[in-house]
Amino acid sequence: MPKLPTTLTHASVELQAVDPCETPEVLRAVRASITELHRWQPWACLDYGRDDAMAWACHSWLGWQAGTTYNFVVRRRGDPGVLGTVGINQIAGKQANLGYWTRTDAAGQGLATQAARLCATFGFEHVGLRRIHLHHHVDNHGSRRVAEKVGFVREGLHRQVAMLRGEAIDAVFYSLVSPDEITAP
Ligand SMILES: CC(C)(COP(=O)(O)OP(=O)(O)OC[C@H]1O[C@@H](n2cnc3c(N)ncnc32)[C@H](O)[C@@H]1OP(=O)(O)O)[C@@H](O)C(=O)NCCC(=O)NCCS
Repeated sequence: MPKLPTTLTHASVELQAVDPCETPEVLRAVRASITELHRWQPWACLDYGRDDAMAWACHSWLGWQAGTTYNFVVRRRGDPGVLGTVGINQIAGKQANLGYWTRTDAAGQGLATQAARLCATFGFEHVGLRRIHLHHHVDNHGSRRVAEKVGFVREGLHRQVAMLRGEAIDAVFYSLVSPDEITAP
């Protein structure tokens, strides 16, 4: 496979493939958003710390080399601060999952939507995927809007499909099966 691009940009949004050197910035962003993240993300424990961020960054770096996961940090172009992450994971043949989050104090600026568009386009055009799916907690209306705005097609509600803090939760599933389904910014 030809070398994959490690930087993706559109307008002022920049995605950069995760490097373990960025662990402090990733940790800062997670800590600044932990209340919101803890509500929806199984990995976001309230005492999330440096070792967790380092483990994630190393997992991301190794996953990129192995072709099993492609995680990016999200930034404003020219600003070193990490404002979130987006990534393709759970690659199985030509299918994969897309995940995203943004800093709570950067919410509502279109960052998650643009980051998801860029990452999904990367998945189709560079990884060679045929289908990209995502799911969110049935009550996570912000994530629902991001999926809708990117062009993901709703497939339906899956009951008790995931665990969150010891509770089985319902989640809504979406997919893209072509880059043509991704909406223009
Ligand atoms: C959900 C999340 C990714 C949104 O990130 P963001 O950068 O604010 O996203 P955008 O600015 O691109 O778009 C947000 C959209 O959601 C809407 N939204 C946000 N919170 C909402 C809520 N509680 N109810 C309804 N809509 C909501 C915004 O109004 C906006 O839609 P609009 O453009 O139609 O007004 C972010 O809040 C987050 O990281 N949350 C915690 C982690 C998470 O839930 N990740 C997704 C797991 S599947």
